[in-house]
Amino acid sequence: MSQILTIADLKDLARRRVPKMFFEYADSGAWTESTYRANEEDFAKIKFRQRVLVDMSNRSLESTMIGEKVAMPVALAPTGLTGMQHADGEMLAAQAAEEFGVPFTLSTMSICSIEDVASVTKKPFWFQLYVLRDKDFVLDLIDRAKAAKCSALVLTLDLQILGQRHKDVRNGLSAPPRMTLANIADIAMRPRWWMGMAGTKRRTFRNIVGHAKGVGDVASLSSWTTEQFDPHLSWKDVAWIKERWGGKLILKGVLDKEDALMAAKTGADAIIVSNHGGRQLDGASSSIMALEEIADAVGDTIEVHMDGGIRSGQDVLKALCLGAKGTYIGRPFLYGLGALGKEGVTKALEIIRKEMDITLALCGKRLVTDMGKDQLRR
Ligand SMILES: Cc1cc2nc3c(=O)[nH]c(=O)nc-3n(C[C@H](O)[C@H](O)[C@H](O)COP(=O)(O)O)c2cc1C
Repeated sequence: MSQILTIADLKDLARRRVPKMFFEYADSGAWTESTYRANEEDFAKIKFRQRVLVDMSNRSLESTMIGEKVAMPVALAPTGLTGMQHADGEMLAAQAAEEFGVPFTLSTMSICSIEDVASVTKKPFWFQLYVLRDKDFVLDLIDRAKAAKCSALVLTLDLQILGQRHKDVRNGLSAPPRMTLANIADIAMRPRWWMGMAGTKRRTFRNIVGHAKGVGDVASLSSWTTEQFDPHLSWKDVAWIKERWGGKLILKGVLDKEDALMAAKTGADAIIVSNHGGRQLDGASSSIMALEEIADAVGDTIEVHMDGGIRSGQDVLKALCLGAKGTYIGRPFLYGLGALGKEGVTKALEIIRKEMDITLALCGKRLVTDMGKDQLRR
């Protein structure tokens, strides 16, 4: 554990411990993966101003996201099949986030259900909604999130049709994995993973199976999403979802200024500048390059968050400088989870916290909320 110093170290360990099919489900982008790569690479093009001889004592990373106090402005992004990176993955990640003091967002396509996560946490978590053709099921999901006292609904806008990730097709992604010879051989080499899985009953999409009409089994994510995701979703739908939910609403997957302005008009509480971690429109801009223009366009009409490519505390600070009030990490926490379970998620958050703290000081700032454009060299 003492040798794990970076998110890349957690990724290396996860690669060894998680079956190939699920490791690659996380470590993949659509088609050529150019946007997936750009999300990470574009952060490196942004440089800080180094400042000296300023009082660096009493630093604080505390902030707020949609009015909720956070230990640092870094939430866990909603990710599907998290319970396949590690047994009971969503429950463990939610507990790690709660203990650390940052928000956890549960995906519609999770393995552990809303009720599973609620049963092991004390503070409210956030729920991410995909709009499906079966509107009764969508209404029921919203009501279940309310009953579980979720404090925000994150409505994902950029996955009404599934982008193709070649690795998932080649690996025959399913949950649980089909017992082919190749899968058995691969899983046999990962004893920590399969022993955990053998010890839990949570091995398929528990928000869906037994809740959606006529769905007794959804092993294949891609065939189910092709049938069920609603390509008709439009800005008008945001209104009825907002009304039914009645609480804080975050719109996820905005990458264009015009869409951001539309989003601001809906009365939602925040947008997430995001390209779904490079998993949808290959060839789209990296999130960090789209952020500034969007933040400038919406001003303070709506809170701006971002995700995509954050691999360090420095990346978080760069996003804050360019106008984000909060950020999310997807793969960094999944790699932590796959490597070391709950402890690994905590480790990912600690790595990012330490990098943020030292960078903040070397930039001559004491409060994370003071980071702005003037902190960047341009
Ligand atoms: C394995 C995986 C599964 C994901 N599943 C979902 C999902 O179910 N719902 C959603 O809104 N976004 C999903 N996303 C996108 C993330 O919420 C987030 O936008 C993205 O991971 C951020 O990029 P990063 O992984 O580089 O931090 C997923 C991302 C990954 C890597």
